[in-house]
Amino acid sequence: MAKIYRNIAILTGAGISAESGLATFRSSNGLWNNHKVEDVASIEGFQHNPALVHDFYNNLKTEIQQAKPNAAHLALTKLQKEYPAEINIITQNVDTLHEKAENQNVFHIHGQINQAVCLNCGQVLEAWGDVDTETVCPHCQVMGMMKPNIVFFGENLLCMDKVEDILRKCELFISIGTSGVVYPAAGFVQLAKYYGADTVEFTLDTTANNYLFDKHIFGKAGETLPPYIEELIKNAE
Ligand code: APR
Repeated sequence: MAKIYRNIAILTGAGISAESGLATFRSSNGLWNNHKVEDVASIEGFQHNPALVHDFYNNLKTEIQQAKPNAAHLALTKLQKEYPAEINIITQNVDTLHEKAENQNVFHIHGQINQAVCLNCGQVLEAWGDVDTETVCPHCQVMGMMKPNIVFFGENLLCMDKVEDILRKCELFISIGTSGVVYPAAGFVQLAKYYGADTVEFTLDTTANNYLFDKHIFGKAGETLPPYIEELIKNAE
């Protein structure tokens, strides 16, 4: 008799957006969109060259705005609509493809590309347009203190209060498209397992924390996730 879960937690990484044409972080050349991650996703890199970092994310915004959700994102929408459980999505991705696919309960622990934060007053603003060292904060009117609302290495994650609760309550933990090398996100599976969840990973390559998963489904998530979700839904009918 197949198990029916009342609470499912999903963790996504860059791999779920790969089939939408967006670059993953640790592909073969080890660069993210031709930059070293530490140059464009660290506090030191931002302080050293804010113009380069702003330019990087301004270009990435255009690419992300044009990207479309793929079959994996849409399979999550189907799961949330047709499976009788609380289903939360914790994403490491700064793209908005989960939102474009109408996924619900999405928590961006590494921030979002379409937001900027003012380092002077702390206000988080919607920012699909270019942000740079000349941008004036519309809230406190200070110029040059805007930063992409992306969590850089060295900064705290967002939504962690909600994430702890999600991991404690979930009965099934599904990881999709993440290499499992960046903590604390890479440790979420361990926490879910500690609280008794079944754990499944969807990935192309062997992940760094694969030993913590009960099940491994290798392949492109756009191809492997839909049939898995169909099966989950059928088992709950
Ligand atoms: N389907 C499923 N998995 C895929 C696909 C695909 N089409 N393409 C790639 N993958 C897998 C890879 O096998 C790898 O396990 O997705 C994972 C991508 O790993 P990373 O590039 O390391 O991306 P991610 O795990 O999201 O990185 C975590 O690191 O640099 C920081 O903040 C950044 O959020 C990012 C974090």
